[in-house]
Amino acid sequence: MPRKRVAVLISGRGSNMAALIEAAKDKNYPAEIVLVVSNRPEAGGLLVAEAEGVATEVVDYAEFGKDRAAFERALQAALDRHRIDIVCLAGFMRILSADFATAWRGRMLNIHPALLPAFKGLDTHRRALEAGATTHGATVHFVVPEMDSGPILAQGTVPVLAGDDEAALAARVLAVEHRIYPLALKLLAEGRVRVVDGRCLIDGVPAVLAARSQRPFN
Ligand code: GRF
Repeated sequence: MPRKRVAVLISGRGSNMAALIEAAKDKNYPAEIVLVVSNRPEAGGLLVAEAEGVATEVVDYAEFGKDRAAFERALQAALDRHRIDIVCLAGFMRILSADFATAWRGRMLNIHPALLPAFKGLDTHRRALEAGATTHGATVHFVVPEMDSGPILAQGTVPVLAGDDEAALAARVLAVEHRIYPLALKLLAEGRVRVVDGRCLIDGVPAVLAARSQRPFN
């Protein structure tokens, strides 16, 4: 089966992007990262992608006079030029329109640094600490028009430890992000994921059960 052609959309340092690029270096990995798009020209992740030999493009919202439709047309054109099959949002800080999300439905993933549906939005680690959560983590989910919603494909948990500050908790969660995102993309690229009634089935098994079974997903 040909490897799926993946674009990673970033706005910043791109450590999740780097984890995906790293995973895809394995010839048996079912996807290849062929494009990195940033909406910010100064995103550090662009340099990392270039050093890895991955094509990069900048689609800067500001250059489109804050015309979101024009911005998304440019984004779509970049994805078309590179014949992209799957889009992975990785710290991409622009909200995409419902039309764009719908056009990529089932083919666009996002990683969120919290155990959705808890702590949607920003400052998840601070909010988890303030809430006194004892467990925190990260979620890979399909993108739907509502922000940080959409069928959950993979989650990874970490304990919240006494004495944690935001930075310590963020670092613990980030390590989990770097594991679950490549795993989730692998499952999608292998065609093992189906969405039924808004929930993910992996190999026909609800993701929630699949995650708890002993079956290794690799
Ligand atoms: C990650 O925590 C991701 O979950 C969130 O934004 C952060 C991006 O970090 N959506 P990086 O650019 O992948 O290092």
